[in-house]
Amino acid sequence: MNPSALELRPVGQSGLEISVLGLGCWMFGGQEGDYWGGHDEREAHNLISAALELGVNYFDEAEMYNSGRSEEALGRVLKGRRDKAVIGTKINPVHCATGRIRERLEGSLQRLQTDYIDIYMVHWPIRDFPVQAAYEELMTLQSEGKIRVIGVSNYGVQDLGEALATGMSIGINQMHYNLLSRAIESEVVPLCVERGVGIMGYMALLQGILSGKYHTIDDVPPIRLRTRHFRPDRPDSRHGEPGAEAEVNKALAEIREIADGLGLPMEQLALAWTASKPWMTCVLTGARTPEQLRSNWEGITRVLPADVMAKLDAVTEPLLRKLGNNPDYWQSGANARIR
Ligand SMILES: NC(=O)c1ccc[n+]([C@@H]2O[C@H](COP(=O)([O-])OP(=O)(O)OC[C@H]3O[C@@H](n4cnc5c(N)ncnc54)[C@H](OP(=O)(O)O)[C@@H]3O)[C@@H](O)[C@H]2O)c1
Repeated sequence: MNPSALELRPVGQSGLEISVLGLGCWMFGGQEGDYWGGHDEREAHNLISAALELGVNYFDEAEMYNSGRSEEALGRVLKGRRDKAVIGTKINPVHCATGRIRERLEGSLQRLQTDYIDIYMVHWPIRDFPVQAAYEELMTLQSEGKIRVIGVSNYGVQDLGEALATGMSIGINQMHYNLLSRAIESEVVPLCVERGVGIMGYMALLQGILSGKYHTIDDVPPIRLRTRHFRPDRPDSRHGEPGAEAEVNKALAEIREIADGLGLPMEQLALAWTASKPWMTCVLTGARTPEQLRSNWEGITRVLPADVMAKLDAVTEPLLRKLGNNPDYWQSGANARIR
């Protein structure tokens, strides 16, 4: 492996560059009962060391991940090597009341043991507070050097347009994107490209489902089956749609066949496809072990021929049509949170 081969891509028009593979740190600081279960800090340490060796410099956080323990763990693990990392973290929109953003940002800075956040994102669109005042506060904090680049996450065209209209410069829009979740392609991507906003894709392996390690959907941990891909009677599902399990199964079988034909592990093919999208700034995966991270790195660094890209687009098209253009994969109709 040659770490220098990991490409850096520009974060919109901000001047900042990040590695095309980013490490999602949601599981850091996890305890039994948390979404990803318990996570040993030595494992986090090993993951960060492996990531830096591989040329991965972007680490993705949020104040809400494991109630702040994830940021704390990353802060401890990055001690003495903060300058090698680009840290992104997110503010929960329920904390975006006028005048309150500063204290939330200070909390993240303290937990991460740093003086500045490289990319500070609004985790979901702000619904309960005046957006103009919130974006002005973010711009003030940026002018003080506490934030390098302002970003958003889960912003559809309406929310993104509204945020850009305030004059705020947005470096990145972080969105759910993978072979089985392509809704952003129709509207969000074209707007981001037109306005110079970078795109970061999260859940690039659909929480492990695209790694090919599950033989059937019923083998997947139930908590990972809440999205619109799956039946509404799955535990904790809240979308109320019929799901698209037949299309998911068919797409997975065809992706597996293409991967086998190329002699590639499925996760590598899925990640290579995502990184090959010309508008993709950074692909986030939540690797649990350095081994998973290395395999993901190998996938990201592969260049897929145009005919393989086209084939993958084609075999996932029926699922895309069935699930439609709603980029909110957890909620739908009037409850969809992405506008
Ligand atoms: N902005 C948002 O609203 C939002 C939402 C979700 C996530 N995110 C960010 O995106 C990051 C990544 O998302 P994610 O963690 O949900 O998704 P992901 O990368 O699709 O899934 C992570 C899981 O996939 C499995 N995995 C990863 N690499 C693998 C490999 N090479 N082989 C086999 N299995 C592999 C591991 O599962 P096992 O546990 O089974 O080993 C890991 O826990 C998060 O950490 C977070 O930073 C943002």
